[in-house]
Amino acid sequence: MKFPISPHMQQIPFPPISEVQRWLADGLYTGEEPLIDLCQAVPDYGPPPELTEYLATLLNDPQTARYSLDEGLLEVREELCRHYRSRYGAVIDPRQLCLTIGASQAFWLAMVALCQAGDEVLVATPYYFDHVMGLQALGIRPVLLPFDEQSGGVPDRTAISARIGPRTKALLLVTPGNPAGTIIPSAELAELSALVRQHNIALILDETYHAFIPGMQRPHDLFSNPDWGDHFIHLTSFGKTFALTGYRAGMLAASAAFIEQALKVQDSMAVCAPRITQQAIAFGALHLGDWVEGNCRMMQGRHDLFCNELSHSANPFTRIASGAFFAWLRHPFTDRSGRQVSRHLLQKAGLLTLGGEVFGPGLEGYLRIAFGNLSEEQIPEAVRRLRELPFD
Ligand SMILES: Cc1ncc(COP(=O)(O)O)c(C=O)c1O
Repeated sequence: MKFPISPHMQQIPFPPISEVQRWLADGLYTGEEPLIDLCQAVPDYGPPPELTEYLATLLNDPQTARYSLDEGLLEVREELCRHYRSRYGAVIDPRQLCLTIGASQAFWLAMVALCQAGDEVLVATPYYFDHVMGLQALGIRPVLLPFDEQSGGVPDRTAISARIGPRTKALLLVTPGNPAGTIIPSAELAELSALVRQHNIALILDETYHAFIPGMQRPHDLFSNPDWGDHFIHLTSFGKTFALTGYRAGMLAASAAFIEQALKVQDSMAVCAPRITQQAIAFGALHLGDWVEGNCRMMQGRHDLFCNELSHSANPFTRIASGAFFAWLRHPFTDRSGRQVSRHLLQKAGLLTLGGEVFGPGLEGYLRIAFGNLSEEQIPEAVRRLRELPFD
């Protein structure tokens, strides 16, 4: 390539999961024990047969092969409104929803509609790297909030207020968190909502893992305020909820006025989410409540087992925070970065993980573990490999 490219791209690191997958493709792991993948968050189970059988019936319908409205099929958005009324107590209507190609595209729609290059967005660390990569690509400045081990990663309101300036457009949070699994309590989200209102900026919540909040508790009450769209933007994925990550199933919820602007980006970026994906989401919202609840209980079981195994075995890896799908561990190698430890774990123990520094500067001492990928049978084995990892 001889021509210059966008200077924003130069500062963006290569996608971390692709980097780890390249280690694997390059043959870094030659061990005999089966690989255990704690890296990219993907449920180990597939969607239930009732969903796939329903989708199979749609394939011969020529409508399935066509575009939908940019924002998604009306009947699907209506079904989702019903779902949000029961899950969130939401005062919501279909004009406030846009179905997207995963939560990833919902994030891009929100950011392109909200910010110009040079604007700032407050981002809690450790951050979901794709968010910061996206902001950097758009020339938006991520202003980082420090991670407080004592609070388990719940962001501090004083730290937030201190960083709000004239170019701040939003406070961006992920709850339940990726990578630390932190679940921000509903009461704290209400406080944060009041704070953003005071400063007339947006609160953007990425709630990709909301279906793994223990007991399927209501994540928050923000949607029950009829004016929620004045300052709140919600991003979600159905990929983890219905085990449909490859279907690229996501949604943006915001005021009808904001969606109206976001549709200009949607039209030029993707036109619409795939129709079959939209229909899968509607089916899930209508029929899979019990299945989702069962998975939520199972995930809590995986979480508790992982934490118990780690703490009962004098493991040199320490749990700093955890919840939903992830655990955030401190590794015992003071002279190595998280990336180096992650390579070492692959090479010596057949464990795929992510080093802490991909989630923010200064986090070399940590690792992210997606225990949600593993069945209960695999968890003791994964923890054993952490415990017995050779230091050389
Ligand atoms: C916090 C968070 N947001 C968004 C996404 C992307 O979701 P999707 O696959 O629906 O684009 C992920 C995927 O892991 C995630 O962890």
